[in-house]
Amino acid sequence: MIEGGCVVGVKKGVVQPKRSGRSPSDIRQVVKGIRGEVLFNAPLRHYTSFRIGGPADVYVMPEDAEALGQLVVQARALRIPLFVLGGTNVLVRDGGLRGVVVGLSKLRVIRDEDQGVLYADAGVGMPTLLKHAISRSLSGLEWAAGIPGTVGGCLVMNAGTNLGEMSSVVKGIRLVDSKGAIRDCPASALHFTYRRTQVPSGIVVGVWVQLKPGSREQIGMVVKNYLKYRKETQPLSLPSAGCVFKNPETQSAGQLIQEVGMKGARIGDAQVSEIHANFMVNRGEAKADEVLALIKKVGKAVERQKGITLQLELKIVGNR
Ligand code: EPU
Repeated sequence: MIEGGCVVGVKKGVVQPKRSGRSPSDIRQVVKGIRGEVLFNAPLRHYTSFRIGGPADVYVMPEDAEALGQLVVQARALRIPLFVLGGTNVLVRDGGLRGVVVGLSKLRVIRDEDQGVLYADAGVGMPTLLKHAISRSLSGLEWAAGIPGTVGGCLVMNAGTNLGEMSSVVKGIRLVDSKGAIRDCPASALHFTYRRTQVPSGIVVGVWVQLKPGSREQIGMVVKNYLKYRKETQPLSLPSAGCVFKNPETQSAGQLIQEVGMKGARIGDAQVSEIHANFMVNRGEAKADEVLALIKKVGKAVERQKGITLQLELKIVGNR
């Protein structure tokens, strides 16, 4: 839910350093000449839907895929770790992230291609792409109504709802690979599983989706009804990272958490939503540590009372 959160997910570094040189001068050096916005010591809570997260040494929003490629090359040369932060399905720990954190919010192009194919940059919001599809009377993304993440995040975590998921529409992706080069891959090079996509090493910068012609009215109606359902059943007015746990096969994590009496449980400003028990919400100044303690408490209660070990959908990154 990448980006997130759906992931964007967080795609672990294309650069995996043996040693991490990150003196202040290295950090300045790594972003030298990069087109885009560069923020040093940036509090990542400003870039996550949970509004939680410590600082990044440097947070970079490259202007385009070429600028990102250059950043990848420079990070590799200096052996500085590089993370892509989608921001919606992620919990950044209170100590933040060392090295370079990349946000793709400036990659925002949507292009109409032939025969129901749309290309969207990874930083395009899923709501924006859905709106675009509706305006072209294209069906296939209705399941994404209400998903707040970006296209890249949704791809990386194979975002989905009970109406469908990303894997059903992806035709191909565009990547910046570990050498900074731009590469296109067909969907057959990807491996989709429940809420996870294995992609060739690199950073996803764009996605092609294959949609079908439909009736604009009908598509709009499905989306409207689905948004209404989500508004009624999910805590959309408070900061959160979407669903915390994956649904165990044939069961709903939310229902299990409710049944073990954890709905509304609170540690500090982190709370199990009173509306949907598989969401945790930030009631103000929640710390990542509080969310982690709550996750542990909820997981233990479900294990004890139901004999089920819940798996996290939420990605947890950063230092304590
Ligand atoms: N339920 C409860 N108590 C709760 C929450 C749910 O009893 O606190 C029950 C509901 O009454 C319903 C069942 O559980 O009978 C399923 O609930 P819901 O329709 O809300 O679906 P879900 O399985 O909990 C999934 C996705 C959501 C997505 C919704 C709607 C997962 C882990 N969650 O939730 O995705 O929005 O369907 O399509 O797959 C996300 O991935 O971040 C996310 C929010």
